[in-house]
Formats: sequence, C-alpha cells, structure tokens
Amino acid sequence: MSAPGSSILRRAKVYAVANQKGGVGKTTTAVNVSACLAEAGERVLLVDLDPQANATSGLGLRANGASTHELLDGGALASLAKPSGFPNLDVVMAKSDLAAAAVDLSTRPGGERYLAEALEGRLDPYSFVFLDCPPSFGPLTVNALAAAQRVLAPVQAEYYALEGLSQLLGTVNLVQARLNPELAVAGILLTMADSRTRLAAEVEAELRRHFGDLVFTQTVPRSVRLAEAPSHGLPAIAYDRRSVGAEAYWKVAMELVERS
Ligand SMILES: Nc1ncnc2c1ncn2[C@@H]1O[C@H](COP(=O)(O)OP(=O)(O)O)[C@@H](O)[C@H]1O
Ligand SMILES: [Mg+2]
Repeated sequence: MSAPGSSILRRAKVYAVANQKGGVGKTTTAVNVSACLAEAGERVLLVDLDPQANATSGLGLRANGASTHELLDGGALASLAKPSGFPNLDVVMAKSDLAAAAVDLSTRPGGERYLAEALEGRLDPYSFVFLDCPPSFGPLTVNALAAAQRVLAPVQAEYYALEGLSQLLGTVNLVQARLNPELAVAGILLTMADSRTRLAAEVEAELRRHFGDLVFTQTVPRSVRLAEAPSHGLPAIAYDRRSVGAEAYWKVAMELVERS
C-alpha cells in the first residue's frame, strides 16, 4: 500500500513520440507539446533519443558531458536531466555519440530495457515525460517503447501514411507482447496538414475512417513559424505565441491531457 501523495498516485505519464519515418514532425511535436505543458504548470521531462539531437538544438541547447548516452550507460537521471531554461521543463540532451551507444545496446542482453531501468522509480519530479525517437525501429526506439506507457505518433498526410502507421502499430503490439504490457497508443497526430490540397484531405479522411478515435481531433497545420522556431532555439510558444502553429500545439497538448 502506498500513502496518499506517493509516487503511485502522481506517477509520471511517459510518452514515446515515435514514427519510423523521418521528417514527419516527431521532434517538433515533442518539443512543442513539452513546452506547452510546462507553460501550463506541469513538470515536464524531454529525453532526446535521436543522435541528430534536433530536440536538444531546437531548445537552444548543446549537450556537454551529460547526455542520453550516459543515461543508457547507467548514469543517474537526477544529474543528467538539465533545466532547459524554460520554466518546468528539464531535458536529457543528445549528441552524436548516441549512434554508437545504439549499436552497443543491440549487442547486450536485455539491452532493450536500459532506458526503462534508468527511468524506473526516478520520475517523481515529473508529471509528463516525452521521449523523442529517431526515425527507425532500431534499438533506441525499442528502448523508448519499452520505457513508455503511451505512443504518440505524428504522421504527415501523404500517400503512404496508412502503410507506415500499420507498420508502427504492429511494432507497438510486438513490444507490448514481449517487453511492455502497459504500452498503448495515445493517439495519431496529423502534422504539416495542408487543407488546400485534395490529397491531404483524402488521406486525413482515410486515416480517420481507418483509425477512428485514435486520430487526434486537432491537427497541426503547415506553418513557417513552426519551421523557423528551432533555428532560434525556441519552442513555437516562445518564438511566436500567436502563430497558428503555436496555437495548434497548445490545443494538441490539451487534447493529450484529456486522452491520458
Ligand atoms: N507543422 C509544420 N509546419 C512546417 N514545418 C514543419 C512542421 N512540423 C515540422 N516541420 C519542419 O519539418 C522538418 C521535420 O520535422 P521534425 O519535427 O524534425 O520531424 P522528425 O523529428 O519526425 O524527423 C523540420 O525542419 C521541421 O521544422
Ligand atoms: Mg526528429
């Protein structure tokens, strides 16, 4: 039994932001949803699991010694999670050495659970954790799926979206069966939506027909401000709060809370 206010009652919700395709908006979603929830007063941790380190640089940061590599190597989360500079938002940063760490993981027995073990019992300071995955089903993504309770899957409204998603959901089922019974899909988020093209509208309709309520009601429009923000090291709400992209991600964050 645990006392009121114990870690079980305020257990952090852990989301893997995953899709094996690159350039679908995983990092943009991880950074902006994290920033919105942090601004709403939630304590948020963002773990950059991509050797390209786009989530790290998108917040204007650069890993310096303490990074996801050390976390996977058994380092303590409390010393590796750094303040992002934005209130309520901590980050475990990535750097390019994470690619080598990933190869190493795949050769070790139980290597798919290293991240889960690094986070287990150490998330008390947080209410939300986002794991920004690389664009593959490699060892880093498998570690994220083994450590998460929910998958948040950004997709671009394009011809192959449905196929890619079926593959992703198949992998989620496999990880759930073999590694992490608790894992479920929080939702599919349409990104870079361009309502002016007929193809995008058709793909959206097809996704909603096929996946129903799993698809977020809110979509993220294509927005120049969203694309510019990372080059200033800022989430969209800090770069241009009134932009359509910032407003969309605010609503996505609120819908995610409702879904959790
Ligand atoms: N809604 C959007 N509107 C315009 N550009 C976007 C949007 N979402 C993402 N981008 C841009 O598209 C590129 C890929 O997005 P990113 O989030 O890095 O994808 P992933 O992490 O899946 O590879 C980046 O340059 C990003 O700034
Ligand atoms: Mg990315």
